[in-house]
Amino acid sequence: MKFFIDTAEVADIRELAETGLVDGVTTNPSLIAKSGRKILDVIAEICDIVPGPISAEVAATDFDTMLAEGRKLAKLRSNVAVKVPLTPAGLKTCKALSDDGVKVNVTLCFSANQAILAAKAGAAFISPFVGRLDDIGQDGMELIADIVAIYREYPMWRTEVLAASIRHPMHVTEAARLGAHVATMPPSVLRQMYKHPLTDKGLEAFMSDWAKTGQSIL
Ligand code: G3P
Repeated sequence: MKFFIDTAEVADIRELAETGLVDGVTTNPSLIAKSGRKILDVIAEICDIVPGPISAEVAATDFDTMLAEGRKLAKLRSNVAVKVPLTPAGLKTCKALSDDGVKVNVTLCFSANQAILAAKAGAAFISPFVGRLDDIGQDGMELIADIVAIYREYPMWRTEVLAASIRHPMHVTEAARLGAHVATMPPSVLRQMYKHPLTDKGLEAFMSDWAKTGQSIL
């Protein structure tokens, strides 16, 4: 499973990239707004930190402007993946950009049928939003399971399932169990994944016993 970080905060990306576990980054207009930075500057900087796919989302809603924005974003760096919303114009843009060899991440997916449309439009990634489905009392992970099962039936579709709107480590566990190709998570969730009280307790005991031996490995 690939790990993407869902943020436009460069300091977090730099720190987490050093773990060697970060395969890409996803952003959206809300995250760019939160960063307080210009989209072209921040996306270029992120692309230079993490070599994997960096999702940069278009801001228009009509086909012509989305296509122009997508092409501009894609020209920034070779690892930009253009993010488009799951609308008729968004999927038309997805098809046009994908035909040009640009990676497209189709976002705001909330149903299996939407994921089927994105695959047919040549999306490199489909982003089902698990947390936002959970928020309205639906099971976000059920959607991941459905999409993974459907895509497995059609190996000619190369679209990867990117579990998005992840809110806690159990979302990552469950998405991995279901076979999602990618999980994009806020920095806090990746940091939480390391943690277990028994790891801390066990390490403390090992260190204290080791100190009693008076030995040194180096
Ligand atoms: O980037 C898309 C997605 O991960 C947003 O998550 O927490 O705003 O629903 P959230």
